[in-house]
Amino acid sequence: MATVGFIGTGNMGGALARAAAKSPRTERLLLSNRTAEKARRLAEELGAEALSNREVAARAEILFLAVKPQYLEGMLDGIRDVLEARKDRFVVVSMVAGKELAVLQRLLGEKTPILRMMPNIPVQVGDGVTLFCASSQVTREEKACFCELMQASGMVTELSEYLMDAATGVTGCGPAFAAMFVEALADGAVACGLPRKEALAYSAQMLLGTAKLLLETGEHPGSLKDRVCSPGGSTIQGVRKLEERAFRSAVTDAVIAAFEKEF
Ligand SMILES: NC(=O)c1ccc[n+]([C@@H]2O[C@H](COP(=O)([O-])OP(=O)(O)OC[C@H]3O[C@@H](n4cnc5c(N)ncnc54)[C@H](OP(=O)(O)O)[C@@H]3O)[C@@H](O)[C@H]2O)c1
Repeated sequence: MATVGFIGTGNMGGALARAAAKSPRTERLLLSNRTAEKARRLAEELGAEALSNREVAARAEILFLAVKPQYLEGMLDGIRDVLEARKDRFVVVSMVAGKELAVLQRLLGEKTPILRMMPNIPVQVGDGVTLFCASSQVTREEKACFCELMQASGMVTELSEYLMDAATGVTGCGPAFAAMFVEALADGAVACGLPRKEALAYSAQMLLGTAKLLLETGEHPGSLKDRVCSPGGSTIQGVRKLEERAFRSAVTDAVIAAFEKEF
């Protein structure tokens, strides 16, 4: 059981605070936000306490930092003395995109145990992917506690920091690519006469079901594609069109372009 705190209760901080509120590991949930009303409303919804940044920094054993990258240093300037004065054990969890462990360590002091996480937007519905890596000061038990706290957000998996950017090209940026695919599928169905509402619902559910099938069976996607393409049938004609327009290489290049974009 732990006292869990969030500084920043915007889109991502709010979604993960909701996940933490569902965890039996959370003894108390403390929230703070620049616009205090936002933290107060979320605290009311979750049965948490809305406090100042300094109060959350003083009490949270697992302290989530959920402000935008450009506000991180200014926010830390306001709580650094509080953190330095603490005698008890605490772990800082940063979800701030692009801030590597070495940077966080410099900002928070070499001795502070730091865990860096990269969630993605589907954590809002409990089906996200959260990658994390940790400084050497973070214990195995603390990592296990973090995983349990985030369990309601979806998949949580540890990854070497040097692979994080490659993975977030898929997990972080992928939801945009997948949403474009759903939109394009629906456009095709609308062009063939299906009403928009049904076209979007069927396309999104098809993607969800296909992803679930691949994850649950471990089947290779190429094999699943082959199973759907009956000889002389309609699916192979669609596959032929996608190959003609270089669909797979366009998607591969999208991930590489996202990876190569520096912060
Ligand atoms: N959204 C994503 O898909 C995603 C994915 C991975 C990682 N992240 C990371 O998650 C972090 C939060 O992103 P977001 O999308 O949730 O942004 P957001 O919706 O703008 O939330 C950021 C929150 O931080 C608050 N804030 C700003 N300065 C503060 C301060 N000094 N003290 C306390 N609170 C402060 C803001 O308060 P106000 O209400 O006053 O604006 C806002 O509610 C970012 O570092 C981002 O890189 C986001």
